[in-house]
Amino acid sequence: DQIKIFCPATIANISCGFDVLGLALGTVGDEMVIRKMAQPGIKISSITGQDLPMETERNVAGVAGMAMLAALKYTNGFEIEITKKIKPGSGIGSSAASAAGAVWGINQLLGTPCSEHQLVEFAMEGEKLASGSAHADNVAPAIYGGITLVRSSNPLDVVRINPPSQLYATVVHPHIEIKTSDSRKILKTTISLADGIRQWGNLGALVAGLFQEDYALISRSLEDHIIEPIRSILIPGFEDIKSGAIAAGALGCGISGSGPSIFALSKGKDTANNVAKAMSGVLDKIELNHDAYVSEI
Ligand code: HSE
Repeated sequence: DQIKIFCPATIANISCGFDVLGLALGTVGDEMVIRKMAQPGIKISSITGQDLPMETERNVAGVAGMAMLAALKYTNGFEIEITKKIKPGSGIGSSAASAAGAVWGINQLLGTPCSEHQLVEFAMEGEKLASGSAHADNVAPAIYGGITLVRSSNPLDVVRINPPSQLYATVVHPHIEIKTSDSRKILKTTISLADGIRQWGNLGALVAGLFQEDYALISRSLEDHIIEPIRSILIPGFEDIKSGAIAAGALGCGISGSGPSIFALSKGKDTANNVAKAMSGVLDKIELNHDAYVSEI
């Protein structure tokens, strides 16, 4: 009556899909052990790797798990041990990994009474605690795996996109802190019609490119003229990192979620590794400590 699970890190937005697109990293994430307990509720019994609140109502895994137990009218409980490998505030869905992991694992232990759609709704409650808004662009890919498009978050409508077989992600995490709430506050609340047309042209084409495994189309569509020019100011070296990634063969490069992590997508693992070296090289030059990951999707 115990399960050990992998909780994937996620890249939200994927350039042109602000607040709607997201993808799960296959090999970067947290670990969680969940076991049944006789007492009611969710008990976070340990968190290693990061200093995070253990009280159920202040912990994203706790809040997401409680939302699920309430919906199921489940009268016993679960104990959760979390090994955090994703740093909070890094822009690769740390809170989403915990929220999604908790409800996905509990669902497995209960014999899968809930659909993925329901699990995303429960996990969004955890996201609400972490960022103030119950957005689904990180929890949806963490639950479904692969790539997801949140067509609507209320009511929830998620479209799953099978990732092209040779698509790899590179992520660099510069060690600076950017709060999602701060990097949302600096955005404009309106856009011009011309900017809208450019963005939804890219978004539609990116989704088509992913379905058709058309890497050239994916590459042409990985653009963001609305959010990136504003947020990238907060990330030292962003333009050089991006041009370094493209020069090393990446299909595209942009800000992961609300930053400060920067992601690139590549065709093939060797290219993704070369892209990681190029991106890391720029951060080394400006002496900014960072982590770098290459992952399948
Ligand atoms: N779509 C959200 C944003 C993701 O970019 O603000 C935050 O994790």
